[in-house]
Amino acid sequence: VTVKIIVATRSTEKSRVWCSAFEPVWPEAHFIAWADEQGAVDADYAIVWGPPAELFQRELQLKAVFNLGSGVDALMKLPALPDNLPIVRLEDGGMVEQMVEYIVHGLVRASREFTAYEASQRAGHWNPLPPIRRDEWPVGVMGMGTIGAVVAQRIASLGYSVAGWSRSPHSIPGVRNYSGPGQFSAFLARTRALVNLLPLTPATENILNRDTLGQLHPDAYLINVARGRHLVEADLLDLLDSGRLKGALLDVFRTEPLPAGHPFWQHPKITVTPHISAITLARNTAEQIVNKIHLMRRGQPVTGLIDRAAGY
Ligand code: GLV
Repeated sequence: VTVKIIVATRSTEKSRVWCSAFEPVWPEAHFIAWADEQGAVDADYAIVWGPPAELFQRELQLKAVFNLGSGVDALMKLPALPDNLPIVRLEDGGMVEQMVEYIVHGLVRASREFTAYEASQRAGHWNPLPPIRRDEWPVGVMGMGTIGAVVAQRIASLGYSVAGWSRSPHSIPGVRNYSGPGQFSAFLARTRALVNLLPLTPATENILNRDTLGQLHPDAYLINVARGRHLVEADLLDLLDSGRLKGALLDVFRTEPLPAGHPFWQHPKITVTPHISAITLARNTAEQIVNKIHLMRRGQPVTGLIDRAAGY
């Protein structure tokens, strides 16, 4: 019998594009793009990115759901999501290398004063600033999952002093371990460049706020590549405008696309990018998910399963 797989993303058109990425990887399976007006197709598996809530009311035969990204926050908040349905997220898929590059860019932008030099250029000023040493830029990475752990190690290998903070303790070579709420303040106090790679859960929403960001080194820099809802935007603006923070590189926002007229667009201390720090690579993703479906069908374990109680 043919395996039926429903692909439900933010639009039928995008779902069709994803179907065409999967079809050559598994020609025998039947990939169906979600359309609001179509009835149940009794799919065996779902492949999703921000799917409509009706997916789980209509498709009642699903054996597992595969998320076309690392963060499952949009999926987890759907009320009709069955409690015992296995959810598998995308792992790496070529994204970690992109993340490393993006974060190194942010780090060097901050520590080598590129924002100030760009402003000098626009003003026609030849204005060399004092040298900055890497040891003046201790880096703190929030989130030691598949992405954060690699990012932290790679930044450490460049000669920065790196600490990682996560919910449970970790031991990553070259990365100082901080974990749990009890060690959060100590982690913040040693950090000048703060990189956020946490999953978005009720426990981490608004975790970047006036109180936490205010505990960083003076002149600290924020790189947010996780979710916009981690950050209290007004608090960041206040800390930048009062000179408490040096700047921010932001790839994610509470509302995406970032609305026209939002203060982040024109802020001299903020660099905005359109959620591109790591772009999902279609072929790699299709192969990863199809491999996992084959494993499941053989009754073998797969990696990347979401812990439903923890929410990520
Ligand atoms: C992107 O934001 C992802 O979660 O993969």
